[in-house]
Amino acid sequence: MTRKIDIFDTTLRDGEQSPGASMNTEEKLVIARQLLRLNVDVIEAGFPISSPGDFESVRRISELAGDAAVVCALTRAVDKDIDSAADALKFAKRPRIHTGIGVSPSHMRDKLRITEDECIERAVHAVSYAKKYVEDVQFYAEDAGRSDFAFLARVIEAVIKAGATVVNIPDTTGYSLPEDFGARIKYLMDNVAGIDDVTVSVHCHNDLGMATALSLAGVRNGATQIECTINGLGERAGNTAMEEVVMAMRMHGEELDAHTDINTREFIKASRLVSSITGMNVQANKAIVGANAFAHSSGIHQDGVLKKRDTYEIIDPAEVGVGQSQIVLTARSGHAALKHRLEELGYEYEGEELDRLYTAFLDVADKKKEVYDEDLEALVNERDREE
Ligand code: KIV
Ligand code: ZN
Repeated sequence: MTRKIDIFDTTLRDGEQSPGASMNTEEKLVIARQLLRLNVDVIEAGFPISSPGDFESVRRISELAGDAAVVCALTRAVDKDIDSAADALKFAKRPRIHTGIGVSPSHMRDKLRITEDECIERAVHAVSYAKKYVEDVQFYAEDAGRSDFAFLARVIEAVIKAGATVVNIPDTTGYSLPEDFGARIKYLMDNVAGIDDVTVSVHCHNDLGMATALSLAGVRNGATQIECTINGLGERAGNTAMEEVVMAMRMHGEELDAHTDINTREFIKASRLVSSITGMNVQANKAIVGANAFAHSSGIHQDGVLKKRDTYEIIDPAEVGVGQSQIVLTARSGHAALKHRLEELGYEYEGEELDRLYTAFLDVADKKKEVYDEDLEALVNERDREE
């Protein structure tokens, strides 16, 4: 049996930090219901101190989730943030406080203006303070991706001693290369006392388009929780996309020694829901949930897929909630695709008849991006009149 990897969804917190994607409480509740259908392990419901609306969202999602998922609230390493998070989580059956602080030279020197020792002191205080309220305390080492290995290990060891149950190693700026990020996680696994007794989480951003690869490198090296969002929504270039990491673990479970409990058939619904609520469109060529993810338009590919789906598709579309693969008729399509579509429309064409229709089809196709059923019907009717 492979390791179970927890899926920590942060669509409602980090995802919502994406410019233009803010959501009200009712909208967040609709998405939270879908996250429960997906069977995520943890829902990061918001940052309660940031606004009364976010406080209310965390409170209502706590009631909604019951014991179906851990509900998590974000804080800085600041007492009043932690008080507010604890209050918002009051009705959660499985509450988690997620507190943390910047640990890279740039964050400590330029943003927080603190020394390394002060950073550790604040981190330990925040975790101990949160422990007064809840058993389950997750610590984030912000900008861990650009931090000094040995210092990061000192921080993580100190917060584990203070009672952290989960340690989150974010690549906040999406700076790392997958091999280096994996080596960072391995270094922590090998050098931090007590790390085997806690959950190690990875939280990666997509600034170089590598959030999925970074998260999987983390898992390969010992992480057992991935933080992610639907459609990869999130700050700047976004967070790790849940649908991508989950499907990658499904494809490569043995190699990664990893599986999740996600109900992948809910991915398309989740993707469309988040896109329609936030107004953030999903690019057509987005992996797993993009409109073209299971569409084939070139003749060679269409011929292959029509003979056997997996010649050009690694995932059965039904597994992620897509009805079926799509054969899109374009000027790159071949005889096989045209014949197939005509058959679906109830027309049988073979041999020379098919060749003639194909020539007429190419005439139309060269003038359009896509040839639709109406175009085919018109072509068929034209041929009938000519005969
Ligand atoms: O990217 C980041 O470091 C974060 C933390 C607050 C977890 O979002
Ligand atoms: Zn983040």
